[in-house]
Amino acid sequence: MTAPGTTEEILDVNTRYHDDAAATYDAKWGIDFGEIGAEQVLTKLRKVLGREVGPFGDVLEIGAGTGYFSLNMALTGHAERVTAVDISPGMLAVLEANARRLGVPVTTAACDATSLPFPAESFDLVLGHAVLHHLPHLDQAFAEFHRVLKPGGRLVFAGEPSRVGDRLATYPKTWAWRASPLWRRLMRASEAEHPGQHGDADPILETMVDVHAFVPDDLTTHARAAGFEDVGVRGEELLASWFGWANRSLEATANPEEVPWAWKQYAYRGYLAFQAVDRFLLEGRLPPAIFYNLMISARKG
Ligand SMILES: C[S@@+](CC[C@H](N)C(=O)[O-])C[C@H]1O[C@@H](n2cnc3c(N)ncnc32)[C@H](O)[C@@H]1O
Repeated sequence: MTAPGTTEEILDVNTRYHDDAAATYDAKWGIDFGEIGAEQVLTKLRKVLGREVGPFGDVLEIGAGTGYFSLNMALTGHAERVTAVDISPGMLAVLEANARRLGVPVTTAACDATSLPFPAESFDLVLGHAVLHHLPHLDQAFAEFHRVLKPGGRLVFAGEPSRVGDRLATYPKTWAWRASPLWRRLMRASEAEHPGQHGDADPILETMVDVHAFVPDDLTTHARAAGFEDVGVRGEELLASWFGWANRSLEATANPEEVPWAWKQYAYRGYLAFQAVDRFLLEGRLPPAIFYNLMISARKG
């Protein structure tokens, strides 16, 4: 991570990078609005909320990107009315196109997470996926989430990098990068002209948009300081993240059209299998801090 300095710089770099990456974001991250995407999102919700997975009436997604989380919730009847905010108008334009195609009504607003254009006590659920680590001022952001939630409303954030998990993931990434020339030869795939599927975005900016990796206490401290109750943090993905990052790093070096279908199937099905091993064998037994992702849930009293 090479974080830029001031608050303005962090917000600016996040807006520019995500605006330029928006058009290829869904392809790069395998964002899905079918059965698979829905199952992934609902599994995450069940992990943090247990049986209380809705349906929620007014749902606000922070840093909604192209709509992965809240559109899947709406499609499966877990969110009745979706409001999506993001600092990147480019990401919101893709989200709106996805919502139109899927027939999901959605309200959007381009804004920073620390100044939400909504009255106090507007939402039953405030959620986000892979966004907290981009925010320069988490104390202000959590205070804002608390303000816009109705009393009794729930807070859920998932997909936040843990400090240990982030460090461990550098090993499969580095090994894969070293092995990539041999792997491309085996796959008969040529080297990508623009490695990493950044779309029109400057790849350097991707190394500047992440400003945090967390230990579980970081998240609980911010939530409690903002006035939240029933705060809980879980870890998610260990083996799946190593397997996924190794394969993703190999694939990112090749021309995407030339990666064989059989390889893609192996990588995808292997990832799902390791996710299941993590979920059923490891996540309940090992400390949250060592997993790749952290997820937090809390309640406004
Ligand atoms: C890694 S993407 C995740 C997108 C989506 N939640 C998902 O899981 O696919 C992070 C998103 O957070 C947005 N973001 C970054 N900084 C933000 C801020 N200060 N306020 C609101 N959104 C922000 C980015 O524009 C981007 O769309």
